Amino acid sequence: MLEKVELLMYNYIKDVDSYAIALYNHIPKGKRLRAKLVLKISGDSIESQKLAAIIELIHAASLLHDDVIDEAKTRRGTPSINATYDSKTAVMLGDILYSKAYLELNNFSPFIAKSISDAVTKLSVGEMLDVEFSKEIQLDEAKYFDMIYKKTAVLIEATAATAASLANKDSQKFALYGKNLGLAFQIIDDVLDITADEKTLGKPALADFKEGKTTLPYIYLFESLNSDDKKKLLTLYKKELTDDERIWLKGKMQESGAVIKSIEVAVKLGKEALQAIAEYKNEALEKVIKDMIEREF
Ligand code: FPP
Ligand code: MG
Repeated sequence: MLEKVELLMYNYIKDVDSYAIALYNHIPKGKRLRAKLVLKISGDSIESQKLAAIIELIHAASLLHDDVIDEAKTRRGTPSINATYDSKTAVMLGDILYSKAYLELNNFSPFIAKSISDAVTKLSVGEMLDVEFSKEIQLDEAKYFDMIYKKTAVLIEATAATAASLANKDSQKFALYGKNLGLAFQIIDDVLDITADEKTLGKPALADFKEGKTTLPYIYLFESLNSDDKKKLLTLYKKELTDDERIWLKGKMQESGAVIKSIEVAVKLGKEALQAIAEYKNEALEKVIKDMIEREF
C-alpha cells in the first residue's frame, strides 16, 4: 500500500526533527515509481514498505540536491524547496532525508544495504557526469547511455534487485528489469522535454538543450542534419529560443525521425526488461513498463 509507504516516510522524518518535518511537507509527492516497484516485486509486507520508504527518501534527497545544482525554480509544477526557501535549506533537508534513510537501511541484509549504497555512489557520479556534459555539447551516444544509467537507471536497478532479494526471487533478473526500465524511463523523459508542453510537464518545455543537456533525440537529430542545419542547431545550444527557433527545432525533431528513433530505443529496452522476468508472469510489472512508455509527463 502506497499510503503506508507515505506514512513511513513521514514518520521517519518526524522522528528526526520538527522543523525538518515542516519542510518535508512542502516537497511535492512524485510518481513514487520506486516504491510501486518494491511493492509489486516483493509484495505488501511491512519490510517491503520500509524498503520502499527508504528508497523514496533517498530519491527525494537526490532531487532536493539536484534542484540546487540545476538552479531549478520548480519541481513537479510547484516551486522547488530552493526557490521557496534557499539552497542551504534544500541541501540540509536533503542531508536529513538521505542520512535517515541510511540509518534505516542498516536494518536490512548486507546485500540490500550494499546494493542501495553502491547505487547511491554511482548516482552521485551520474549527477557529476550530467553537470560535466552540460558544459559543452556532448554528442557521443555511448557517453549519454553511461550517464543516464548512473543518473537514473542505477537506483531503479537496485530497487528491483533488493525488492527481489527480500522476496527470495532472482535478484539478477530483476536487476536487469530495473536497469532497462530506468534507461527507458530517462529516454522518455528526454523525449517529453521536446514533445510535451509546459503545463503537462510541470516545468518549462525544451529546457534540456537550453540547460546544456544534449539528450538522445538531439544526438540522433544532429547525426541526421545536413551541414547548414548542423551549424544552425549548434547556434541554439544553451540559448533562450525565439518562437521561430522553437518551431524549427520541433519540426526538425519530428521530420528527421529523431524523436521516433528515441522512442523506439525506449520501447526496445522496455521489451528487454519484460523478457528478463518473463518467467514470473507479473502483469503489474508489465503494466509499469507500458505506462512508463505511454506516459505524458
Ligand atoms: C534529476 O535529473 C537528478 C537525478 C535523478 C539524480 C540526482 C543525484 C544527486 C544529486 C546525487 C545523489 C545525492 C543524494 C543526496 C542521494 P535531471 O536534472 O535530469 O531531471 P529533472 O528534470 O527531474 O531535474
Ligand atoms: Mg534537474
